[in-house]
Amino acid sequence: MLLHRIEEVREQVSAWKKEGLTVGLVPTMGALHAGHLSLIKKAKEACDKVVVSDFVNPIQFGPSEDFDKYPRTLDADMELCNKEGVDIVFAPSANEMYGEGQKLSNDNLTYVCPPFFYVNTLCGKTRTGHFDGVCTVVLKLFNIVQPDYAFFGQKDAQQVIIIKKMVKDLNVPIKIVQCPIIREESGLALSSRNKYLSEEGKKDALVLSKILNNIKSCYEKGITDVEALKETAYNFLTEKHNMEYLEIVDKDTLENKTNADDNSIALIACRVENVRLIDNIYLK
Ligand code: PAJ
Repeated sequence: MLLHRIEEVREQVSAWKKEGLTVGLVPTMGALHAGHLSLIKKAKEACDKVVVSDFVNPIQFGPSEDFDKYPRTLDADMELCNKEGVDIVFAPSANEMYGEGQKLSNDNLTYVCPPFFYVNTLCGKTRTGHFDGVCTVVLKLFNIVQPDYAFFGQKDAQQVIIIKKMVKDLNVPIKIVQCPIIREESGLALSSRNKYLSEEGKKDALVLSKILNNIKSCYEKGITDVEALKETAYNFLTEKHNMEYLEIVDKDTLENKTNADDNSIALIACRVENVRLIDNIYLK
């Protein structure tokens, strides 16, 4: 069922709740691929009813980012969701989400601002305000749908850490389920932004997962010094890769480490053909 209005979603979900059914929410920006579908499948296993939100959220894009050209494929998304047995696809307009004619800025909208430490690192360093926009829309979706469970991918590791922190700090009564990264056979992590890459760009993009896998295997061989592990990336990078960051931090708190340990995660952001790609790997 495709719904565009908040009230319609509320009515349907509250009818389910009256029957004692559990509800799972999978927040997405559409352009669904097998990564999103893995979250939907998990939600179907865990919950009686599944809601997928399909909304390209304007307030999480910076002024020079790809909001306008972000792929919008609602018909194809609906087909995939129907195949997976999704009960509601919620695809609101920006007016429905933020109010007719609202200026989308923190002069006149209430934002959720995660702690500075969590946003002033990794992706947040170059994407000012991004995680405020993410947390704001996610909390709105939580309040609209009021699910029992919400499903997020490890693909966006910083995002899921920040959402877990928000849920804890604001006593949101929803269980966050983190799902593993889905990759192409080549190793490339699936992403809606892969659509921007040429065939050659896709090959160049394999360097991200190669760097991360190599760091993991070096760690397994006993190298723990973070600087030494990061250095190994230069065996893979060429002039086609514009690396934004490569960090090894604590997988729950994002704290920096001098020496990697079993709680570490390696994260990378790199531009290929000017497409910003991210990936990560747990060292254990
Ligand atoms: P989007 O990029 O559409 O991703 C929706 C969800 O799918 C996220 O939880 C993301 O981590 C997960 N996902 C994407 N690629 C994946 C992959 N290869 N393997 C596993 N999971 C994957 O993330 C967002 O949208 C937005 O920021 C959102 C949370 C919807 C708020 O607007």
